[in-house]
Amino acid sequence: MVIEVIDITKYFADKAALDKVSLSVKRQSIFGLIGPDGAGKTTLFRVICGLLIADSGKVLLDGGAAHRLTSGELGYMPQRFSLYGDLTVMENINFFGSLYGLSRNLIIERAHEILDITGLGPFKKRLAHQLSGGMKQKLSLSCALLTRPAILILDEPTYGVDPDSRKEFWKILYQLNHEGMTVLVSTPYMDEAELCHQLAFINQGQLLVVDTPAHLKERLLHQVLEVRTGVKDPYLFDNISGVLYSSFYGYKHRLIVENIESTKSSITQLARLQDGKSFSLEEVEPSMEDLFVYLTELAFTRQGGQA
Ligand SMILES: Nc1ncnc2c1ncn2[C@@H]1O[C@H](COP(=O)(O)OP(=O)(O)O)[C@@H](O)[C@H]1O
Ligand SMILES: [Mg+2]
Repeated sequence: MVIEVIDITKYFADKAALDKVSLSVKRQSIFGLIGPDGAGKTTLFRVICGLLIADSGKVLLDGGAAHRLTSGELGYMPQRFSLYGDLTVMENINFFGSLYGLSRNLIIERAHEILDITGLGPFKKRLAHQLSGGMKQKLSLSCALLTRPAILILDEPTYGVDPDSRKEFWKILYQLNHEGMTVLVSTPYMDEAELCHQLAFINQGQLLVVDTPAHLKERLLHQVLEVRTGVKDPYLFDNISGVLYSSFYGYKHRLIVENIESTKSSITQLARLQDGKSFSLEEVEPSMEDLFVYLTELAFTRQGGQA
């Protein structure tokens, strides 16, 4: 394991932002972390990078005690854009390179290579604040890559960026991973979560499940039904036994149910009572969004949940 997080607990005042979190990241994998706002993702990344000291537990990198970020072993792209808007792309790279103690020649050599990977080469002289959202994220990534880290930690790197730029960003991550880099990334986007080899879900400081995206959906979402009725009542199916979770999309209800057959007839009955004419019910493939709302809303705990 290239990263081992063992029983990490971190309090802010009397609230546990991380509560005995353990996880292992395999070398050369893409490990994703998902969870609602305030779940503890950023805190966990900061602890792994050594920017925050945990109250208890430990982090091992490559089997040894974690080194400081400045050792260059880890590349870290923080949640918020942390570059200088009034410096150009190249000036930002020079600045971060010198923070890491790299020589000027080495910075130039590596910048050349990295700008090629991230496609920012033609924009070397542009001021950072004049870059598009997607390009700013690529510049942050470029800075995180300067030390040629074996492990890259990215905290919601594509937040707020348009879908095409998000795709491009993930292509770069895949390329880096293919060349040997281990990637630990958090994301609010479920299409990105799906691209991870392993996925961990964290809520209220507790790590609830870790598995491949496909296994998580199989294990947790037994069955999902899509029901269309003419009734615009978001709570229509909430009280039917066997419906674990329902979400309403204006023209359809998406229901996570325990057992399709036993729930189907009561759903049909209810829907018919409400509006006999326009009714359809269909079993659909569970999506990552289903998984996320299910885990978040049902707030599984390690003590009480089957997760
Ligand atoms: N520096 C801090 N001081 C006090 N509370 C904090 C601090 N950083 C984070 N928290 C709290 O810790 C919890 C986890 O936050 P965070 O790790 O930022 O979650 P996420 O990144 O998943 O949104 C939240 O309740 C947040 O308010
Ligand atoms: Mg965060």
